[in-house]
Amino acid sequence: MALYLITGIGGFIGSSLARALLSRGEQVRGIDNFSTGKSDNVADILDRIDLREADITDLDAMHAACAGADFVLHQAAIPSVPKSVIDPLGSNRANVDGTVNVLVAARDAKVKRVVYAASSSCYGDTPTLPKHEAMRPDPISPYAVAKLAGEHYLVSFYRCYQLETVALRYFNVFGPRQDPSSPYSGVLAKFITVMLRGEQPTIYGDGEQSRDFTYIDNVVEGNLLACKAPAAQAAGQVFNVATGRRVTLNETFQLLQGLTSYKGQLNYSPERGGDIKHSLADISKAEAALGYKPKVDFEEGLRRTVEWYRGT
Ligand code: UD1
Repeated sequence: MALYLITGIGGFIGSSLARALLSRGEQVRGIDNFSTGKSDNVADILDRIDLREADITDLDAMHAACAGADFVLHQAAIPSVPKSVIDPLGSNRANVDGTVNVLVAARDAKVKRVVYAASSSCYGDTPTLPKHEAMRPDPISPYAVAKLAGEHYLVSFYRCYQLETVALRYFNVFGPRQDPSSPYSGVLAKFITVMLRGEQPTIYGDGEQSRDFTYIDNVVEGNLLACKAPAAQAAGQVFNVATGRRVTLNETFQLLQGLTSYKGQLNYSPERGGDIKHSLADISKAEAALGYKPKVDFEEGLRRTVEWYRGT
C-alpha cells in the first residue's frame, strides 16, 4: 500500500483518481482550496481520505502535505482557456507558481514520483494532426502557456534534482462529476445538462471544431500507469493521454440528441477567443512506454456520463 497525495482532490479529475486509488487499497491524502473543486465531489469518501483545505501556493502547507507521500498526482489548477484570457495573472499564479511549489515540496519530501496534469492546449492551432509529443509546442492562450511552463518545470526538476516526474497531456477530459455550472465548464458537461433540461445548447463557431474527447477512466488509468512505469521509460517524459480519435461538436450534438432525447435546435454564436480548431492525439508514445490503452471509447463514455447526470 502506497500513500498518494492528490492536489485538487475536490475537482472532477482529482476526486475520480481518489476513488480509483481507494478501490485498489491505496492510501489517499488530498489538498484543495475549493476555489473550483467541490466538497460534494469527495463527500462519499471523506472518512477514507486525509483531506486538507489549503492552497498549493502555500509552501508550508505543501511541505506538510508531501511528508510521507510516495506519489504526488498534481491535478490542482485553474483549468480554463477563456478564464486565463480574462485573468492571465490568476492563471499563472495557480498553474505556474502553484506547480513550482508542489515540485519543491515533493523534492524536499523525497517523494518517489510526481505525475502532472498537463494539457493538449500546448499544441495550439498547428495544422498537423495527430499531435505527437515531439512536435514543437505553440500555445495560444495564457492557460496553455502556463500548463506548458509547468511541464518544463517538471523536466527541469528531474534533470536538476533527480525528482522523477511524468507529465500527462490530457485531451478534453469528460465524465461524471465534471462541473457543468460555470461559464468556463467543459463543453460536454454543459451540453449534457442543458439538453437533459430540454434547453438549447450554444456552439461557439460553426461546430466543425473537433476534439479528442477522453473519458475520465482513461485518464485515471494513465495516471496509475505513469506512477508504476519504469523510470527509464517514464521519468522526465511527456505523454499524450487521449483516445486517438476526434469528433466535431456538430457530430457530438447529434449523438447527444439520441442519448438525451432532446428534440430542439442548436444555437450558434461567435467563435471563442483563444480557442483552437482541431485536436487529435497520437497516443503511441504512452502505449509503448506506459502500456496505456484507452479502455472506454467516446460513445460509451458519453452514455455513462449522460446516465450519471440524469441521476443527479
Ligand atoms: C479543454 C479543457 C482544458 C484542457 C483542454 C485540452 C475544460 C473546461 N477545458 O479546453 O482544461 O487543457 O481542453 O485538453 O475542460 N464550446 C461550445 N459551447 C460551450 C462551451 C464550449 O461550443 O458551451 C466549444 C469551445 O468554444 C471549444 C470547444 O467547445 O471550441 C471545447 O471547449 P471546452 O470544453 O471549453 O474545452 P477546451 O477549450 O478545448
